Amino acid sequence: MSTRHFLTLLDLTPAELQGVIERAIELKRIRNNGEIYEPLKNRVMAMIFEKASTRTRVSFEAGMAQFGGHAMFLSSRDTQLGRGEPVEDSARVISSMVDVVMIRTFSHEVVETFAANSRVPIINALTDDFHPCQLLADMQTFHELRGSIKGKTVAWVGDGNNMCNSYINAAQQFDFSLNVACPEDFAPNAELVLKNADRVRVFNSPEEAVDGADLVCTDVWASMGQEDEQRQRIREFRGYQVSPALLDAANKDVLFMHCLPAHRGEEISEDMLDDPRCVAFQQAENRLHAQKALLEFLLVTSA
Ligand code: CP
Ligand code: NVA
Repeated sequence: MSTRHFLTLLDLTPAELQGVIERAIELKRIRNNGEIYEPLKNRVMAMIFEKASTRTRVSFEAGMAQFGGHAMFLSSRDTQLGRGEPVEDSARVISSMVDVVMIRTFSHEVVETFAANSRVPIINALTDDFHPCQLLADMQTFHELRGSIKGKTVAWVGDGNNMCNSYINAAQQFDFSLNVACPEDFAPNAELVLKNADRVRVFNSPEEAVDGADLVCTDVWASMGQEDEQRQRIREFRGYQVSPALLDAANKDVLFMHCLPAHRGEEISEDMLDDPRCVAFQQAENRLHAQKALLEFLLVTSA
């Protein structure tokens, strides 16, 4: 079978994604019961980070250890990648020594080039365009708390960034409607929106977007790599803050998610993470379980 990669949610079929989510819930139960399950004994994962991370690094590294394998942290600062060695050559070399590679970088093309030159699965752990691993955890969290997300309405409020683009892919793969509320100049990928016009609607008003929503999500206004624009963005995004009052305009049993890290007082109000409708910390923990399910899928089930 040819090597499977996970560069966006579209790399798995809807049925496969559903299988990963259900398996993540099972793996969470196994871990919480203290059962040892080591399907990746002697397997090695290379983790290439060109941007900072807390959740992604900890969840992948802990997940590999719990599975009986090993994870190797590679910072671009300390490898030849950071000194200009071509991605193609790096991919050939690294993938000849390890069993799976996780990459967090800027340009999405880097993960595509890496995958095209790799003999082992490549996992996108965030690019400027997509963050599919986060969506696995988000979908698991919704499933745990509310059951199937099929036919539900999700509202994305804020920047049309990598997370928002991944929510559009999720809307397609998990079959839900997505309302995006963003300032005009910060809309998500236009091609993606157009391709999913039957289920994605873009608004300028957060209140309109959250009307009828079962899930409300947001993310920072300035992503990694946009630090210089931070002050300007705070001005441009005024009016797009998610607060308990905004959630009151959504469905009664609405949930709130944030991939974290969060900036209290910017994209969320000071009290948003303390609201009972907020599930951001369960969502963060689920990165561990969802990515273990993904690793098992890529290295065992479909290998
Ligand atoms: N949500 C997320 O990817 O967090 P980190 O940047 O800490 O990995
Ligand atoms: N949009 C954010 C997500 C961080 C997990 C960023 O790219 O920095």
